[in-house]
Amino acid sequence: MARVAVIGAGTMGHALALVFALGGHRVRLTDSNPDTLAKAQGLMETALATLVEGGEAPKDWTSGHLAQAVTRHESLEETVDGAELIVEAIIEVPEAKRVLYRRLDACAPADAIFASNTSQLDVFPLIPERRQARAMIAHWYTPPYLVDLVDMIPGPQCDPAAFEHVFGLLKAMGKQPLGLKKFVPGYVANRIQAAIGLEVQHLLDEGVASAPEIDAAIIHGLALRWPILGVCAKADFTGLALMQALARNKSYTPPEPRESSPVLDRLVAEGRTGVLAGAGYYDWPGDPARLFEARDRRLIALKQAMREIGTMAGLERSA
Ligand SMILES: NC(=O)c1ccc[n+]([C@@H]2O[C@H](COP(=O)([O-])OP(=O)(O)OC[C@H]3O[C@@H](n4cnc5c(N)ncnc54)[C@H](O)[C@@H]3O)[C@@H](O)[C@H]2O)c1
Repeated sequence: MARVAVIGAGTMGHALALVFALGGHRVRLTDSNPDTLAKAQGLMETALATLVEGGEAPKDWTSGHLAQAVTRHESLEETVDGAELIVEAIIEVPEAKRVLYRRLDACAPADAIFASNTSQLDVFPLIPERRQARAMIAHWYTPPYLVDLVDMIPGPQCDPAAFEHVFGLLKAMGKQPLGLKKFVPGYVANRIQAAIGLEVQHLLDEGVASAPEIDAAIIHGLALRWPILGVCAKADFTGLALMQALARNKSYTPPEPRESSPVLDRLVAEGRTGVLAGAGYYDWPGDPARLFEARDRRLIALKQAMREIGTMAGLERSA
């Protein structure tokens, strides 16, 4: 059992605290905003109840059990006292992270490992020199209590033993850490997702397809194969000579990245910013918490089905 400190209790932080607690670790959670820290308890309890109901967490995990496994602290010093692993999940603002790492340097145990959940930032230049040997990125996906992938990138001076330690700890929690050799913005999955997002925006802006049509193409076309084959094994089934011919024909040219999209800009200007706002590409009436729960229940069912069906691709089968 490790002592884990999670800094930032927002969308990711509260969920990461729950993940490490379920993984058998003792967690302390903090946030610079006391309201966010207070709300984290209810969010963790709701997510835990869904996991227990779906059979993805032990039945004896009551809210009392959770309150013992995750404690909330307003003071950063108290949060990191005795911590072996410090999970940084604060806002994606370089200066905020730099200031936090400076404060952590002053109060965290000398041998604590720093693991940043940053989505895109090269955080290593923001971390004090004497902490570099134990600095890494461990990037999770939302909701991290259901999505198992964790991108792991060692800092340029990271001690391989510290990296292996966290890699092993995540594996032991049933997660799928993916160790990359060096930092690239977006890692692997988010780079692929960004390329898809660029194409989706292009199709919407050009009026080729609507949001429901695009989602139908993904859900009834691409997504059915992805859980079994991923992308590279799917290419093996297609035949690599065809893949080569498709590339040579150059019939597909990716859209140029653009800073603004008329469709997206209109939706945001109308306040249609997504589920939390009650609308986005779709209308989402009702309590957002119930919508997140409904999503989680479906993700649990899919995950359990995938576990039963098994994949034909993955790290263990690569050439
Ligand atoms: N939201 C996602 O889907 C997602 C997925 C993967 C990674 N991430 C990354 O995780 C990190 C957190 O993202 P989020 O979506 O949870 O953001 P969020 O805005 O929901 O939460 C960030 C929290 O950090 C707190 N905070 C800011 N400065 C702080 C400080 N100095 N000390 C303590 N708390 C502080 C804020 O009060 C806020 O509650 C970011 O680096 C983001 O890029 C987000």
